[in-house]
Amino acid sequence: MPNDHSLWDLAHRRRSVRQVLPVEIPDETIERILEIARWTPSSYNSQPWHIVVVRERLAELWDAIEAAGRQARAGRPVEHFINRLNGYRGAGAVFFVFLDRAVVEEQVRTTSYASAQRVEGWALEALGMLQFAIWLAAVDAGLAASLHHFDSEEEAICRFLEIPYPRFRLMGTMPVGLPAHEVAPPGRRPLEEIASFERWQPPAESTP
Ligand SMILES: Cc1cc2nc3c(=O)[nH]c(=O)nc-3n(C[C@H](O)[C@H](O)[C@H](O)COP(=O)(O)O)c2cc1C
Repeated sequence: MPNDHSLWDLAHRRRSVRQVLPVEIPDETIERILEIARWTPSSYNSQPWHIVVVRERLAELWDAIEAAGRQARAGRPVEHFINRLNGYRGAGAVFFVFLDRAVVEEQVRTTSYASAQRVEGWALEALGMLQFAIWLAAVDAGLAASLHHFDSEEEAICRFLEIPYPRFRLMGTMPVGLPAHEVAPPGRRPLEEIASFERWQPPAESTP
């Protein structure tokens, strides 16, 4: 596949690739992805995030996540969870994306005109942009990624990474590697349904 680096191409080529094959990801690639992420916008440039990249301790980490996931699902089916984990196990690097609640709380304290809920919402918007930046940067580097939410396993992950919890909340986990197989695009709503020009227009009725 030609590695066209245009934004047009990256936007269309990015997929949720949940089964990745091992690949050694060099320091320069990791640094480039992080540098692109660093320029993500955030409300008042608050940058309420921290990213932990794991490459060396992945086997141990996946085992810890699996143990926490099995415990959280005691008595309930685990197959879907284990299949997902097995797909991620090939990753050459995993980006753990955290919201830094201390930064958000400081912004809540110093912002008089917006509610705490609004300020928190802005922080979540910024985290979403950060994750998208990491995702596109990974694709730009010829790699594939996905975004997973390990809610029941969050505390176990924080313990493993030695990151203070609950100051830092795990927003997303992004395993990066080589695609194990091609993923068909899941499709999108048509443009005329999601956008209007000059004023809102309801989508044209489909004739029966
Ligand atoms: C906010 C958000 C949360 C997501 N959470 C998960 C998740 O927990 N597990 C997962 O496998 N995919 C997750 N995804 C990926 C979506 O399922 C995926 O982006 C969507 O189906 C479109 O597919 P595409 O990414 O290949 O275009 C998430 C995506 C977003 C933006």
